[in-house]
Amino acid sequence: MFVQNQWYIAALSHEIEQGPFARKICNQQIVFYRTRGGELTALPDRCPHRQVPLSKGCVVGDNLRCAYHGMEFSPLGQCVHIPSQSVIPERAHLQRYTVAEQHGMVWVWIGKEHPTKLPDIPEFAVCSSKEHVGSMLYAHANTDYKLGVDNFLDASHVLFVHPSTVASEAVTAARTELFVKDDEVRVRRTMPGEACSPMFKAILKVDTIDRVQDSVFRPVGHTWIDTTVTLPGVENGPVIRTRTFGLFTPETESTCHLWAGLYRNFALDHAPMSQLVAQQIQQTIDEDVRICEEVQRNWDDSVPITHLVVDKACLAARQILRRLGEGRPSGESAARFRQMESHDEAHAR
Ligand code: FES
Ligand SMILES: [Fe+2]
Repeated sequence: MFVQNQWYIAALSHEIEQGPFARKICNQQIVFYRTRGGELTALPDRCPHRQVPLSKGCVVGDNLRCAYHGMEFSPLGQCVHIPSQSVIPERAHLQRYTVAEQHGMVWVWIGKEHPTKLPDIPEFAVCSSKEHVGSMLYAHANTDYKLGVDNFLDASHVLFVHPSTVASEAVTAARTELFVKDDEVRVRRTMPGEACSPMFKAILKVDTIDRVQDSVFRPVGHTWIDTTVTLPGVENGPVIRTRTFGLFTPETESTCHLWAGLYRNFALDHAPMSQLVAQQIQQTIDEDVRICEEVQRNWDDSVPITHLVVDKACLAARQILRRLGEGRPSGESAARFRQMESHDEAHAR
């Protein structure tokens, strides 16, 4: 069961050109296309006649034509032409999806309620800002999207999963601070005098840094890691910031779409650095997808799992998702999490 009445990321804007583009979101097969004016539309990817995927058809003018018997649908979902008859039955019309574009991403509203405005996540602005440079990659993963959220929220795995990119003993060893709000989970690691990970070493050409790292979750499947780096002992030196996104959208209960990318506020025109970062992010995401797919493959609901202290952020995110899934009002997650935390601590003592 997926969280309903939410905006989900469906694609990067440039993934969808004029021709039909199929993507399954929350078990719903959707076809996206653009009109000649570039306007985006999304319809059920199923012809009401013989259920052929409309994405197998083509765009004719501003309409989508079915590949089988040529029925045509307008961007609003109305059936406007049936080649073999002049009468268009009422049932031939399609219910279109509400879509929107922001910061280079395509969003689709999933749910029966009237769409709200797009989620206000100012952190996404770096994706379309001139003061930052970066790029986003797409990946498909055979995992529940929530395992992806767990992966991004809990950085203690980097030493073991990413030995040649973002591995850092300091991340695993760092004390974490957890901040939970109704619609946000944030876990902070402060790492003074940290030995540089291979990726930061390659980028910054130094061995040691002072780093603060925030791993953040916002529903439904949006995570990112904010990193602030300064050079130890250098007063008024450069402050380097990166934001690494992991944006997850459920495809089915056990598969998901993922968009990932690192945006930086320095060396904006440095193409080799952009190339290096893109290659390192690709490798890191491949490694994350592999380990999460192992978790998915091996998962058995009947086996009790052992929670570690580092899982508190993941558990808090699950609580928010559970609340949204049950349509419960906000204000409960933080309170319940505090309750759980004191319960945990009582047991730890
Ligand atoms: S299946 Fe689409 S027109 Fe017949
Ligand atoms: Fe990772």
